[in-house]
Amino acid sequence: MAAVTLREVTRDTVRAVCRLQVAAGQEGFVAPNAVSIAEAHFQPKAWFRAIYADEEMVGFVMLYEDPDQAEYYLWRLMVSGEHQRRGYGQQALGLVVDRLRTLPGARELLTSCVPGEGGPRPFYERLGFTATGEVDDGEEVLRLPLD
Ligand SMILES: CC(C)(COP(=O)(O)OP(=O)(O)OC[C@H]1O[C@@H](n2cnc3c(N)ncnc32)[C@H](O)[C@@H]1OP(=O)(O)O)[C@@H](O)C(=O)NCCC(=O)NCCS
Repeated sequence: MAAVTLREVTRDTVRAVCRLQVAAGQEGFVAPNAVSIAEAHFQPKAWFRAIYADEEMVGFVMLYEDPDQAEYYLWRLMVSGEHQRRGYGQQALGLVVDRLRTLPGARELLTSCVPGEGGPRPFYERLGFTATGEVDDGEEVLRLPLD
């Protein structure tokens, strides 16, 4: 079993992060990583990392973190198509949760996902997220308690 780590994106790795692609048909569920990194450039509360399995880059995760409002939001998560269903997404989210537990007031992690066949909702539900019933900009809001 490969060891999953979250690593800072550097000038040496940013192009490889931007080249990561989800599987065919999943493009509507997450923005391209280049777009996410561009958005993060204008959002001081964005926190993002590349996901590695051993020494291989396999994905990307980005959060919106506001300790002042105790607001933590999983903004983007993707594992490249050829590396999916090996537990990397689950392990990466576990590392995110470990980190959140060290941050002020982090009692829940929210996310939202595009509904539809092949979407990530079963993945999130398997990890303990439940639907709040809210819909944000057409996306179902999901919540993971951190207590
Ligand atoms: C969602 C995503 C990050 C999951 O990453 P992953 O590394 O493949 O997930 P894991 O291997 O850790 O999956 C853990 C469990 O979640 C569930 N799961 C994962 N993908 C699933 C899918 N497509 N359909 C149903 N269940 C799924 C399974 O129960 C899986 O365990 P199993 O393989 O033992 O059955 C990945 O599919 C992805 O990048 N999708 C496209 C982008 C996307 O939708 N991102 C979320 C935006 S909100």
